[in-house]
Amino acid sequence: MIQVEGLTRKYGSFTAVDDVSFVCQPGRVTGFLGPNGAGKTTTMRVMVGLTPPTAGRVTIGGHLYKDIPNPGRHVGVLLDASAQHAGRTGREILEIGARTMGLPATRVDEMIELVSLTPQEAKRRLRNYSLGMKQRLGIAHALLGDPSVLILDEPANGLDPAGIRWMRGLLKGYAERGGTVLLSSHLLHEVEQIADEMILIGNGRIVAQGDKKSLLAGADGGKASTLVTALDNTALADALTAKGFTVASAGEGLRVEVEPVEVGRTALEASVVLTDLRAAEGGLEDLFLELTAETQREHTA
Ligand SMILES: Nc1ncnc2c1ncn2[C@@H]1O[C@H](COP(=O)(O)OP(=O)(O)O)[C@@H](O)[C@H]1O
Ligand SMILES: [Mg+2]
Repeated sequence: MIQVEGLTRKYGSFTAVDDVSFVCQPGRVTGFLGPNGAGKTTTMRVMVGLTPPTAGRVTIGGHLYKDIPNPGRHVGVLLDASAQHAGRTGREILEIGARTMGLPATRVDEMIELVSLTPQEAKRRLRNYSLGMKQRLGIAHALLGDPSVLILDEPANGLDPAGIRWMRGLLKGYAERGGTVLLSSHLLHEVEQIADEMILIGNGRIVAQGDKKSLLAGADGGKASTLVTALDNTALADALTAKGFTVASAGEGLRVEVEPVEVGRTALEASVVLTDLRAAEGGLEDLFLELTAETQREHTA
């Protein structure tokens, strides 16, 4: 378990992380989501003792990171995939890690295979790695010591779609076996599909947290809306408008600012045949943009 308690980090008069508290539970993937500059990396650096906090603290399994003996056996960390000696090969980087942690050399081959780097790629120097290959290597490095906690900063950056899917499966499986995963991202859809819990950060402050459902339910920005298509869209729109729902045309059908069940009920009453009925995606995206609006560089409202 990772416990962040009242964490603040200032740089001069600028507050990068402002009284942040949250918990990451074992068996769960926790997504740490926020726009560029929100304070994600700073928070994660404090977690692993790379940046001292101005106030507050982070414990992992009840201990400060610096007090954990042989930390790589307990906490796998990937903050910056390029932060390795560029002249070393991927294999060498893993071998040094394995030796430092007192692991058998066989562990290196297992990890190279796990992250699908080919034996040839493992022999290349890091400077010749693509970002996605560095991320794979970084994930291999984080997993070397078979830790029970993973802290990954934007691990999906640079991965191709197949790689992102692979990583999603890997992290889900890891959490299902009881591991604690914290991963950050500035992209909602990336986190949304992996994370059981989400922590939204903007301007150094936590603006919302919880699972996807409760986030949508709890925020006023998360009003439900529905995408619906009927054989007779005009008749359906009339019936919905008569009930006071807000209706707009969207693609082939309509977008209605109410839950799908109400749209279904209205269609039934009006005897309109539906060909498609679903909750509109983007509720969470709207919420994310709204909650972090102050830190957005572009004003998307
Ligand atoms: N060493 C530093 N000195 C001054 N400002 C910093 C330093 N590190 C981070 N910051 C600032 O703190 C804010 C949060 O940065 P960061 O944690 O990297 O955000 P994120 O990872 O969410 O994009 C940014 O405005 C960044 O410029
Ligand atoms: Mg960052």
